[in-house]
Amino acid sequence: MGFIEFMGLNPTNPMNPTNPTNPMNPTNSITPLKENEDTEYENILRPSSWRSFVGQEKLKKNLKVFIQAAKQRQECLDHILFFGPPGLGKTTLAHIVAKEMETEIKVSSGTVLERPGDLAGLLTNLEKGKVLFIDEIHRLPRIVEEYLYPAMEDYSLDIMLDKGVNARCLKLHLSIFTLIGATTRSGLLTSPLRSRFGVISRLDYYLPSDLCKIILNSGKVLNLTIEEEGAKEIALRSRGTPRIANRLLRRIRDYAEVEGDGRITKKIAKRALEMLEVDKAGLDEMDKRILEAIISKFKGGPVGINTIAVAVGEEQETLEEIYEPYLIQEGFLQRTPQGRIATEKAYEHFGFSVLGSRQKNLI
Ligand SMILES: Nc1ncnc2c1ncn2[C@@H]1O[C@H](COP(=O)(O)OP(=O)(O)OP(=O)(O)O)[C@@H](O)[C@H]1O
Ligand SMILES: [Mg+2]
Repeated sequence: MGFIEFMGLNPTNPMNPTNPTNPMNPTNSITPLKENEDTEYENILRPSSWRSFVGQEKLKKNLKVFIQAAKQRQECLDHILFFGPPGLGKTTLAHIVAKEMETEIKVSSGTVLERPGDLAGLLTNLEKGKVLFIDEIHRLPRIVEEYLYPAMEDYSLDIMLDKGVNARCLKLHLSIFTLIGATTRSGLLTSPLRSRFGVISRLDYYLPSDLCKIILNSGKVLNLTIEEEGAKEIALRSRGTPRIANRLLRRIRDYAEVEGDGRITKKIAKRALEMLEVDKAGLDEMDKRILEAIISKFKGGPVGINTIAVAVGEEQETLEEIYEPYLIQEGFLQRTPQGRIATEKAYEHFGFSVLGSRQKNLI
């Protein structure tokens, strides 16, 4: 295998991350992953500074200290891993960190870095002090991940060319950089990779009061009139997630314009949310399927997570990392050594009588 081929540097190769026609071209940090309305709005509403990044106070405070310290020492920031459920602000934070470090960010994803050459192409083009953001880092193929270890640790790449008697090792020296990784599935990250991050930060679901601020801010950006009570109503049904809050806001705006005078009042918000069939507690389709399965198929539990996964047709890890944390935080689900249990709140939410249902299940 030739060097150019190994490096994936053929500029006409559409999968080459440095090729300008590649939609994932990391040199364009604002290239959206998918060109749709959602992505467009997400970019418009994405906070670009600490001031507009609401909530996650502890995480923000820590990051500000690390950034200030690195800047004072005129050093590069340590590698950072952000993990947490989708839509909580991992990508947003990566961009803010780069901006605060007064540097550029290159964006890529574990899904497009298929071969070591793709990664090498990216890293060798990275200038000193720049931030490389790898989204969905848990999806990096193992072979690519192994090349990342020395890159993160010693800023070098050891590339093996050819096999057998012709095998040669080529050492490439890289500029110092900061890797920011993001993942919704921290459990899938290998421990060698995880241990190479100097900062590991978990993002939590947002409080309704924070979501309310986010909705009001988004309203300003989109030039909407939103009453605080209207924003509160939306915040309560956003599953603790800014992305969902913004998405609901846009749908409610449509409703307010067609059915009202454009103002988002509490009454309009409530009516629109009912029309959109948004659950009163903000639960989504999968949340509901999980709870209903535990209640109606497994007598309310305890039931093992793998059994629930089969019943709802979702991977166990996804349930554990994306759905369960919110259901537990909101008091719908309990995790016990014997398995998962639907709480009284869950029974009430779905209109089941706790006693009736459990008795019926005993017959
Ligand atoms: N703290 C915040 N303050 C205000 N808006 C936020 C905040 N966090 C996220 N958002 C909004 O939510 C949207 C989604 O955030 P982001 O893309 O950063 O999530 P993510 O964690 O990267 O999600 P995924 O795991 O799906 O990639 C942003 O475009 C932004 O509008
Ligand atoms: Mg993201």
